[in-house]
Amino acid sequence: MRSSGRRRPCRRSPQRSSHPSRSTRAAEVAVATEVRRADLAARRTALALALQGDAEQLRAQLWAPCIYGEFAGKEGMWQQVDLDRPRFADQRQIITVKATAIQQSLKLAPAEGGEGVEQVKSMLGALGEAVTHAVNDDDADDGGADGGEPVLNLDRLPLSRKQLRSIGQATRRINLWHGSVRSGKTIASLLAFVIAVAGAGPSGLIIICGRSLQTIERNCLEPLQDTALFGPLARHVVHTRGATTATILGRTVHLIGAADARAEGRLRGLTAQLAYVDEATLLPEGFWTQLLARLSVPGARLYATTNPDSPRHWLKGGYIDRAAELNLRAWHFKLSGNPSLSPEYVADLAAEYVGLWRAG
Ligand SMILES: Nc1ncnc2c1ncn2[C@@H]1O[C@H](COP(=O)(O)OP(=O)(O)O)[C@@H](O)[C@H]1O
Ligand SMILES: [Mg+2]
Repeated sequence: MRSSGRRRPCRRSPQRSSHPSRSTRAAEVAVATEVRRADLAARRTALALALQGDAEQLRAQLWAPCIYGEFAGKEGMWQQVDLDRPRFADQRQIITVKATAIQQSLKLAPAEGGEGVEQVKSMLGALGEAVTHAVNDDDADDGGADGGEPVLNLDRLPLSRKQLRSIGQATRRINLWHGSVRSGKTIASLLAFVIAVAGAGPSGLIIICGRSLQTIERNCLEPLQDTALFGPLARHVVHTRGATTATILGRTVHLIGAADARAEGRLRGLTAQLAYVDEATLLPEGFWTQLLARLSVPGARLYATTNPDSPRHWLKGGYIDRAAELNLRAWHFKLSGNPSLSPEYVADLAAEYVGLWRAG
């Protein structure tokens, strides 16, 4: 064994002298791969265009005069008739095939359409400002700050009053949504967070923390990528499952799982401007304290949801109950804060739930 081990380097050395060509070959392979990739991309685009053409042609056929023919009668003779448009059943088929062509075309070359990052950022910025104004007007209850039209008709938005109010008021250093499960805390807090991301300055990291990477993906990134919930923003939330960063509105967002006390170490040395914490009471207290210390950029903010299961929990005693002394605002959510739940479900759950945080 040993002798063969000794021999090997000798055999390799002449090969090593020819290595310069190996890196050249690697470069050639890289170039060839890139050429193939570009070629494939070009052909995919061409195919997408052809499919779009098919769809357009089918669309034209939908209302165009046509000849309808079939073998009919006792003798099975070919008979045909001129129609000023296809029969209804055929129109239906045309529509189905056309839809498939469009879908495939879009898969190959996704529509440029949809709003760009800057557009979504400014939409979110405008929404944030409008909600803050509207909530203030609502509090003043004088039908608008100037007595004129309110900036935003809160009743028109697909969010509950409670959700909107919390989003409009989430301007403290620590913003905390707590209360019943499924009461709409996560959706409201995520919207407040992405409004902040849209207006974030260049310095300081943006982070999302949760019990694990998997819970962050499930509870935060998946809802954010749901167009039904977050509309055009969803396209600008990019994440590969298992990766420890995501991109939201073009900004890198660091994802930090904090299941145990060791997780605190992951925060050491970093400087953050924005942090979102999913289910804060599932995180170690040391992690939370460290996170607050890391949020050192002027104007830094923390957005967190929680469902404290005990009145003696450190988050309740140390923070929620001390809102008046701290730069903290907390909202207590009940099931009525979630506009997507049916009254029957709310009633059933309220009856079933006898924990500290009664539904209602
Ligand atoms: N304004 C809303 N419009 C539509 N669906 C909503 C809205 N708010 C919450 N939901 C939905 O209700 C469910 C529970 O909301 P979520 O924010 O996750 O509650 P919580 O974090 O309090 O448990 C989720 O499926 C969520 O998508
Ligand atoms: Mg939640």
